[in-house]
Amino acid sequence: MSRHAPLNGPGIRPWAVVKLGGSVLTRKRGIEALRPKILARLAAEIARASGRPLIVLHGAGSFGHPGARRFGLAGPPDPRTDRLRGAAIVGTEVRRLHLAVLRALVAAGANPVSVPMATHTLQREGRPVEMDLKPFTTALDRGAIPVGFGDVVPDEAWGFSILSADTLAVALATELRPERVLFVSDVPGLIAPARSGPPRIYPELSDATLLHLRPGASGIDVTGGIAGKITAMQAIARAGIDAGLISGLSDGRLARALAGERVYGSWWSAGSR
Ligand code: IPE
Repeated sequence: MSRHAPLNGPGIRPWAVVKLGGSVLTRKRGIEALRPKILARLAAEIARASGRPLIVLHGAGSFGHPGARRFGLAGPPDPRTDRLRGAAIVGTEVRRLHLAVLRALVAAGANPVSVPMATHTLQREGRPVEMDLKPFTTALDRGAIPVGFGDVVPDEAWGFSILSADTLAVALATELRPERVLFVSDVPGLIAPARSGPPRIYPELSDATLLHLRPGASGIDVTGGIAGKITAMQAIARAGIDAGLISGLSDGRLARALAGERVYGSWWSAGSR
């Protein structure tokens, strides 16, 4: 990421950036398969924390990854695929999920404002070269909850490419310096590889943990799966901000994390390596 538009004035600092993973909002192996009860509960937990300025981001899950994979949007253009058609279809699918997230937040009593990054980002070969984060601060300054999402965005080399909400979380953390970034997922944390016994998570993450990650754990995920998320957490911690990976399937865990608790999950502490 080379250039961000300058942010004018002091502005309101977000207390947290919360990324709701596509894995928790949708059934990843289905097609456009929303998990409405989980979404409603997470929206209610966010609404209860609205006294604190928050930024909410969400992934695409089964609304974006299957199409992105089918049209090869996460990699370089393939002359056999109609990339423009893919961008149109996947962009539409993720907006259906986005509307569901906005509706759930409104129903829970929160005041979300949509921030579609496709009109505020330019990428080159799948990596951001320009990102205007001002719409997030503009919404925060007015007391709203800005809501961004993983999207199909213009790419100066490839036509269009995928921007993961994890990448957006890193940019927002670095620029706006929240207290913490929370990745809400369908797993309780980063699960340690074990030959036997009950699954165990790493409560503390560090550079050493990355060496234990098994390659190829991303499944149908075009944006790197759990490994991509851990790398995003590493970048956030390096920028001096706490990053947590927590379960969204456990009642109230997000609410407690938004109240400042270091809840059960995997945490990469600010500054630690
Ligand atoms: C992916 O965004 C965006 C598209 C595939 C269009 P994310 O990388 O943030 O999504 P999840 O959380 O893995 O589903």
